[in-house]
Amino acid sequence: MKVMLAEHAGACYGVQRALDIAYEVLDSGQSASTLGPLIHNPQVVADLEARGMKAVDNVADIVGTTAIIRSHGVTPEEHRRLHDACESVVDATCPHVSRAQRGAAELAEAGCRVIVVGEKGHPEVEALVAYAGQNGAKVDVVLSPSEIPEDLYAPIGVVVQTTQTRHNLDAVLSELDRRGLDPILKDTICAATQHRQRSAAELARMVDAMVVIGGRNSSNTTRLAEICAELCPRTYHIESAHELDDADLSESDVVGVTAGASTPEGQISAVVAYLEGR
Ligand code: F3S
Repeated sequence: MKVMLAEHAGACYGVQRALDIAYEVLDSGQSASTLGPLIHNPQVVADLEARGMKAVDNVADIVGTTAIIRSHGVTPEEHRRLHDACESVVDATCPHVSRAQRGAAELAEAGCRVIVVGEKGHPEVEALVAYAGQNGAKVDVVLSPSEIPEDLYAPIGVVVQTTQTRHNLDAVLSELDRRGLDPILKDTICAATQHRQRSAAELARMVDAMVVIGGRNSSNTTRLAEICAELCPRTYHIESAHELDDADLSESDVVGVTAGASTPEGQISAVVAYLEGR
């Protein structure tokens, strides 16, 4: 069996950075908490927990000396509350997300009516809404042109969830253009997600079976699995190698492997080694 790895696969810069920061904190002997799991990867979260990291839902539940802010950041209010409640706060917000937060804050300072292109309820988007609304501006979250509200007034600002597609942003911008509106744009899309999707699709077209590694609770991994399944019907979304024990790969001479942006390198190499040993 030949195993081929997608050109772009696995932990993105921001996730790897957050993991490195978290392990550094734990290795220094500090106990630490995060608001929500550090990343959407059950195996990694279990390992962090075993080393003393606790994921909590509220600032009030933080235990230990240190709070670690996850890669998709927190609202300014959560930031303040963390600093008030904890001995130390370690900020692992991805620098691309920080840039989006700064962009949202700049739109607020400019007095803009703000549109955030993103998924309602996603923690990164909630934080962008909070930054954009700091001066009392009205903020809406939209994913498609049909969700753009009617009551817009100039100046309008647009900021984008880092993992959004350019297709969604362009559709929103063309609708604003159609309405004769000329927004101030903070183009804060991060290319990591699209690079993973594009290289997964390229590989899925070439192979007999595809293996997509990453948390079932990871939306970017699930999206990768959907893209691969459309192009390669024998696609397996797994969290660890042993889930392939019962997979029928007897007619698969070439197997492609990819992984979501929250899948660390160790999990990918374990699956590749497992496949090569079959
Ligand atoms: Fe950062 Fe982009 Fe990853 S925003 S967390 S590098 S997907």
